Amino acid sequence: MAKILIKGGRVISPAQKLDDICDVLIEKGKITAIGKKLDSKGTEVIDASGKVVTPGLVDIHVHLRDPGLEYKEDIASGTLSAVTGGFTAVACMPNTDPVNDSQTVTSYILKKAADEGHCRVFPIASITKGLDGESLTEMGELRALGVYAVSDDGKPVSNPQLMRRAMEYAKPFGLTITSHAEDLDLVGSGVMNEGPVSTELGLKGIPWVSEDSATAREVMLAEFTGAHLHVAHVSTKGSIDIVRQAKKRGVNVTCEAAPHHFTLTDDAVRGYNTNAKMNPPLRSEEDREAVRQGIADGTVDAIATDHAPHHIDEKNVEFSIAMNGIVGLETALPLTLKLVEEGVIDLPKAVALLTCGPAESLGLPVGQLEVGGAADITVIDPNLEWTVEAQKLASKSKNTPFDGWQMKGAAVCTIVAGKIAYKRG
Ligand code: DOR
Repeated sequence: MAKILIKGGRVISPAQKLDDICDVLIEKGKITAIGKKLDSKGTEVIDASGKVVTPGLVDIHVHLRDPGLEYKEDIASGTLSAVTGGFTAVACMPNTDPVNDSQTVTSYILKKAADEGHCRVFPIASITKGLDGESLTEMGELRALGVYAVSDDGKPVSNPQLMRRAMEYAKPFGLTITSHAEDLDLVGSGVMNEGPVSTELGLKGIPWVSEDSATAREVMLAEFTGAHLHVAHVSTKGSIDIVRQAKKRGVNVTCEAAPHHFTLTDDAVRGYNTNAKMNPPLRSEEDREAVRQGIADGTVDAIATDHAPHHIDEKNVEFSIAMNGIVGLETALPLTLKLVEEGVIDLPKAVALLTCGPAESLGLPVGQLEVGGAADITVIDPNLEWTVEAQKLASKSKNTPFDGWQMKGAAVCTIVAGKIAYKRG
């Protein structure tokens, strides 16, 4: 394997408190030196002047759709989409077909990722068998295979007694419970955020209280059991505040926010745009602002995409029956950098939210840039301007509300375990 020298970039690694113009040397899959004016003899040089060099980006909320739903995405296409967006590690959700509720499916994902994947893949197993909301998976066995978190994402665990038991089971194994916090009775037949826009469009609404009440329950159960709770895709002012207050009390809770929730509001649904339909839904301006505030004050630990590929035939239908979700791996980085441009956070904080923040949220052994560590590195051009063209995305699916958007910032080189997995242009 060739030696690689990343030269003259602004190297930012929040976990190492590193922010300096320097070189990074990679040999045999590892970082062997970080310093000024390193010797380039015998190396492949990547000129990073004017660029930002970070630990490989980490996305802890991705739907790879493999096994069973490969017409939407598979492990090869999903991880290609990941490295194109600058991600070197993804954690994939278990709502596949079959559901990842067993060592068999987890092993299949790990094997296929090793054979065909472009980046590291950490399978998240389900909390309940077949996502049935009734019986718990064998969490100890799953942990032994390298599972770091369990989740019924896409669905809540509605029964609080079962969630209590899940937390009590997960805790001694050091497993994180990633919660899809939603009260289905309060959601009813809602298909978008409940508010003036849903009224105007004549669509049934999903009220914020369906998320807030579920988040409050999860936080209380985490407080009661001491288990580590990670709240997925927080989208409301109330949920952000519930997590903020819980952290102040010392509850073992982390949370993530998705780029679409801090960028868009339910206004994007106008025109019955099914590419603006997801769960949780795009909310009000007040909610969007609260999510941004939570990102700024440290309530939000991670930015995670909820990359949810769907076939055109599942989106090109009337709004109420369209599938929930959008692809996000290739637009997350510039949308996060936009927060920097808008003064919500600074650049090192943005890097933290895409690297060590998500890694620490699930306890994943990634998100660092240090001598002796794995050479998972992303070289970012923060000034590169480009236009999103949905049809050209590396993902198999094209369901993005950002088609045609002018973006600033992109990964120009993504290195996984010392190998160049993606180079722009
Ligand atoms: O929009 C969503 N899509 N939210 C979820 O919770 C599930 C996901 C999916 O699997 O498509």
